[in-house]
Amino acid sequence: MSLEAAVHSLDTLKSESMKSITWNGESLILLDQTKLPNQETYIDCTDWRQVAEAIKKLRVRGAPAIGVAAGYGLILAAKEAIASASDEVTQRANFLTFANTLKETRPTAINLAWAIDRIVTNIVFPSDALVTALPLIEAEAKAIDLEDQRLNAAMAKAGATLFEGKKGIRILTHCNAGALATAGLGTALGVVRELHANNQLERVYADETRPLLQGARLTAFELHHDGIPVTLLTDNMAAYVMQQGLIDAVIVGADRITTEGDVANKIGTYGVALAAKAHNIPFYVAAPYSTFDFTLAKGSDIPIEMRSADEVKCFAGTPTAPEGVEVLNPAFDVTPHELVSAIITEEGVLTAPYNKSITDLQKKTAR
Ligand code: MRU
Repeated sequence: MSLEAAVHSLDTLKSESMKSITWNGESLILLDQTKLPNQETYIDCTDWRQVAEAIKKLRVRGAPAIGVAAGYGLILAAKEAIASASDEVTQRANFLTFANTLKETRPTAINLAWAIDRIVTNIVFPSDALVTALPLIEAEAKAIDLEDQRLNAAMAKAGATLFEGKKGIRILTHCNAGALATAGLGTALGVVRELHANNQLERVYADETRPLLQGARLTAFELHHDGIPVTLLTDNMAAYVMQQGLIDAVIVGADRITTEGDVANKIGTYGVALAAKAHNIPFYVAAPYSTFDFTLAKGSDIPIEMRSADEVKCFAGTPTAPEGVEVLNPAFDVTPHELVSAIITEEGVLTAPYNKSITDLQKKTAR
């Protein structure tokens, strides 16, 4: 079976409307996730700046999805750079400036830098002129998109091996690591979809994920829409449901994983991992090789994106805190590897010692 056919057959595990990123040959169509679940609105990006804005504002979000979107954004950047000057040196310089601006939109999720660096290093640097590189940039952007779909499908299968022979499984997840956050089935929710397809899943408990409610607006929406049983919780209920014996395992996605196995993911993930440890519940992370930072060992070296105070001080645009009050708004936290029971990748399930299993992953996935 061809790769395209394999991906297509696995796509039956998710509905078509969960496709958040589509390249139509001319422009990048993005599902505006800030409008979900109330409106299904699409943005037609014909300029790489629109793609950068969409990433910054979380219209497209989730580590793999922003990498895929940025790949397509580079086609638009290359077209503009070619039109911006008649000489190749200026065209290339302008392209690299645009690529850097795209890369700086969000600092924590490494998939963004990974996708941009992959295109710049493998395609743009070795080519003699940007104009000859353009069709290759488009081909590489499509390859990143298709590869992410394949990686998701492989992770779904690998993750299900952790639950062999079990039925009635209850999973808690945090943020949205689903189809909306990737080009495919999702990372954590890819595993959930596989368990559901195997009739092993009882239910997903989804943390609402303050302050931007990716759990409520996106995970609950995505699972409910696809007929997968889901119960929505506010973040401060996670330890309660664990204490009540309602959770068999936690599965979350990741934005960056170091060589020691420390995991950056949506703010609140660390607290969920601590609560899971206290209740002897396995804490699994699902992520493809493109989410690993093979240059960083310690989670404390991962750059954490700080976002606007308004995201915390307001709820749906209405102020909920005193004007002028100080706010802290880190978008991510780091879960130390000691709290991670296993990492589900497309190459199989990684366990401690992570510096060894992650080095093996790096060797297997080196291009
Ligand atoms: O700020 P977001 O919504 O982009 O954060 C997304 C997350 O933290 C996800 O859990 C993570 O990217 C994994 S997505 C497969």
